[in-house]
Amino acid sequence: GAPVRADISKLEAGQRMTVEWRGRPVWVINRTPEMIELTENSDPSRLADPDSDVPQQPSYISGPLRSVRPEIGVLIGICTHLGCSPLYRPEPEAAVTDDWPGGFFCPCHGSYFDLAGRVFRNVPAPTNLEVPPYRFEGDDIIVGE
Ligand code: FES
Repeated sequence: GAPVRADISKLEAGQRMTVEWRGRPVWVINRTPEMIELTENSDPSRLADPDSDVPQQPSYISGPLRSVRPEIGVLIGICTHLGCSPLYRPEPEAAVTDDWPGGFFCPCHGSYFDLAGRVFRNVPAPTNLEVPPYRFEGDDIIVGE
């Protein structure tokens, strides 16, 4: 099919937008420096697959942030448990779980993911959220492939 595009020129720091690429919701998150630091320094022992050993992302994506640019996260917004839509809960808050660094919370069965879509341990979701193949066109356009 034709490539799909997202214009992120109006996406402010800390915000998340949802675009539809080929029938699937894709989240684009503009991570703040604080969010980047929290994600890079999160305790790997709390994550089920901190290094993304289960391939849920294109081969050119690596590292804790799982993205082409550190500040821009691109994730498929479908819980890897049974397909619900996790909620964006970017603020650190104890209500989700102890020492919650901010990320995504799936209300269906209580799975949570960090701001790079990495799944926490001991939740129903078995794998990290999927990163779709994409590239940048200039500063403001993301092209899904
Ligand atoms: Fe998300 Fe079950 S569908 S936790």
